[in-house]
Amino acid sequence: MRVGYVQFGPAFGDKERNLARVGEFLGREQADLWVLPELFSTGYQFASREELAELAEPVPKGPTTQRLAALARELGCHIVAGLAERAGKALFNSAVLVGPRGFVTVYRKIHLFYRERELFTAGNVPFTPVEVAGAKVGLLVCYDHFFPEAARSLALAGAEVLAHPANLVMPGLGQMTMRVRALENRVFAVTANRVGEENRTGEPLRFTGLSQIVSPKGEVLVSSGEQGEEARVVEIEPSLARNKRINALNDLFSDRRPEFYQALTRP
Ligand code: ACM
Repeated sequence: MRVGYVQFGPAFGDKERNLARVGEFLGREQADLWVLPELFSTGYQFASREELAELAEPVPKGPTTQRLAALARELGCHIVAGLAERAGKALFNSAVLVGPRGFVTVYRKIHLFYRERELFTAGNVPFTPVEVAGAKVGLLVCYDHFFPEAARSLALAGAEVLAHPANLVMPGLGQMTMRVRALENRVFAVTANRVGEENRTGEPLRFTGLSQIVSPKGEVLVSSGEQGEEARVVEIEPSLARNKRINALNDLFSDRRPEFYQALTRP
């Protein structure tokens, strides 16, 4: 399976331009599964809830999901893309997954970061992997990386590849945690981070790039710089993620002792 990411700097509010930019990258190289950054079509720093509501779209009927599905059909690939979702009055920071046969699923970001808490509703559907081109894929969005329970839930449910659209702003942190998430769960992890800056509220944000694809041993297979737009693709063997053994006597999943992890389920 060929997995890839697009690292780029979305222009705030310019969905046409951002979709076209992504189309350029995806057309240049073949991959079975592409991952795009968080909020790739709109940009990140909304000045108000009203502005966000105007730019957010229903899923799957909204134009951005439909355009991504058309791209997936044309290229014969799957695409995971972060976008702003409107569902009735609620606004979610979501990641859609589309494929050659159309819309597959949507994940609504569960752990909201900083001012996202003033704008979005947190997702409330359990982490659930889906089958993509013979591999089980789990979706995380950005700040979810900080919660080992998120990746663990997906891995315990069978995820072999974590697809992680991101708008990381703390240099190197999410890259480090995702290597650990991959290592401790023995899964592949694809982080598509954005680059560039936004200052639409008087609080400047600098996005940190360093997108990466990591192996179940925590090795960085490919990565990008802190700046610059590019797409990277690598061939992986998802079935390697089914083997949780670290030596002849230890298996990271069957060695777990959940009966002693009681604080995890305490309110
Ligand atoms: C983030 O969750 N966008 C840092």
